[in-house]
Amino acid sequence: MSLWNCKILKLSYSPFNNLISKCLALVVVGLVSRAVLFPNFFEVDGKGKLVVGDIRVRPLEKDLDYGIRRDKFLEVPQIVWGLNNQKIAFARACLTARMLNRTLLMPSLSASLFYKEIDQLQPISFDKVFQFRKFNSLCSGFVQLGRFSELLNQTQVLELQKGSGRKWTLLRDFDQLKDFSRDLYDQYEVIRIVGKNPFLWHDHWPIKDYAKVFECLALVDEFAKEADRVVSKIRAIGGEAIGEQLAPEQGQGGNGVSSKMQRMPYMAVHMRIEKDWMIHCKKLEQRSNISEICSSKEEIIQRVGNIKKLNKPAVVYLAVADSMLEDKTILSGWKEGLHPFEKKKLGVGHIYEKYPYLIKSAIDYEVCLRADVFVGNSFSTFSSLIVLERTQKMIRMGVSSSCKNNIRWPSYAYNIMGDFGGPRKWLTNMSDTSLQAISYGSNHVTC
Ligand SMILES: *[C@@H]1O[C@H](CO)[C@@H](O)[C@H](O)[C@H]1NC(C)=O
Ligand SMILES: *[C@@H]1O[C@H](CO)[C@@H](O)[C@H](O)[C@H]1NC(C)=O
Ligand SMILES: *[C@@H]1O[C@H](CO)[C@@H](O)[C@H](O)[C@H]1NC(C)=O
Ligand SMILES: *[C@@H]1O[C@H](CO)[C@@H](O)[C@H](O)[C@H]1NC(C)=O
Repeated sequence: MSLWNCKILKLSYSPFNNLISKCLALVVVGLVSRAVLFPNFFEVDGKGKLVVGDIRVRPLEKDLDYGIRRDKFLEVPQIVWGLNNQKIAFARACLTARMLNRTLLMPSLSASLFYKEIDQLQPISFDKVFQFRKFNSLCSGFVQLGRFSELLNQTQVLELQKGSGRKWTLLRDFDQLKDFSRDLYDQYEVIRIVGKNPFLWHDHWPIKDYAKVFECLALVDEFAKEADRVVSKIRAIGGEAIGEQLAPEQGQGGNGVSSKMQRMPYMAVHMRIEKDWMIHCKKLEQRSNISEICSSKEEIIQRVGNIKKLNKPAVVYLAVADSMLEDKTILSGWKEGLHPFEKKKLGVGHIYEKYPYLIKSAIDYEVCLRADVFVGNSFSTFSSLIVLERTQKMIRMGVSSSCKNNIRWPSYAYNIMGDFGGPRKWLTNMSDTSLQAISYGSNHVTC
């Protein structure tokens, strides 16, 4: 329950008194239901570790059925570009539907990254990647997805043409959405948004709303299992590497090693050092007059090595572009006690090879999300979304997420110098009023 609901009520022409009583009633119902529905967020897995899965069961601030109508829909064009652009655009489509008090018709995502050639975009249905029912149950009362089969036969469709280009400002975009949330358009079963990638650009929602939508996205079992496989492999292979090293020194027997392996923590480093990125980030540095955007391989390796609180030996998973897998040098030069692996050295290349771009990327995202420590680049949307979700995860689990405390799932930005020559500690500012900082890259990392 937020002020937002009341704003929406204002748009429907209910008399003022009625509006106030409606809002009050919703507040009361909201408070009561919050007490009743408050879930048990913590769960301990077989290995005595807190697991995250079930914190997703229900959003904390559950908006009591906000009024998303199940018989009025919003249809949006295919969602395109990289995994992160697609996640952001999808969340915007959801939030647009929420604003219109409508159910979002399940959109198509794009399996490939060939965004210049429309015919190569390989549409892939949302529910082939993310769990449809789980999404609706986790996001219940906040946003909803529907299927085209739910439409009536004689569907009335109203097209909403979104503008593009410089003249199509943030304000115009928002005014148009406000217009279409009026009663006047309510007769239409479907409002169909048309235009060129309408959700890549304008942003009207606070970070918190995006975080809520992202929390409802769970990979379908097939891909979630692949991510599990990669994570297990990191822990196992890394554990072996470290176990071998420990055994002679600490005289650990076979049992000692294997119990260590079970709990083997790992760090994930999202290394953006491929050619395309280096060209892009150098340009960005010139254009924005910010020097801390590009980090060379050497700088990343050095800064990660300087993280003070890291227990060594440690396993390091390097999330790198495929083109970097041929470059043996990314595995050398790491500080003693850090054991770097990428897909190839882990022997999980075959898991990724089976899949198109979007799925590969989604698996790597999951692996980074679950890492005990994450280090990325604050100008990368991929890194930024991971830190956003990790911050949200800490808030959900009641772990204090201050910059100074030794937090449980720390994240760092290697492109910014932190303490002791290490990377800067990084948290997402959940009070930010827009996703702008995250979607365009920034060196504001809160800490
Ligand atoms: C949304 O639509 C439903 C169904 O018509 C209605 O009951 C509810 O009051 C509406 N909510 C808002 C906030 O307008
Ligand atoms: C819609 O129309 C088709 C054929 O025109 C018919 O087969 C189908 O049963 C109709 N569906 C509904 C829900 O009326
Ligand atoms: C770029 O930043 C530097 C130092 O922050 C400053 O001295 C310089 O004037 C800036 N240049 C431009 C073109 O803004
Ligand atoms: C977080 O964002 C809010 C809203 O933009 C701002 O007022 C606050 O200063 C930010 N906090 C930090 C630590 O950057």
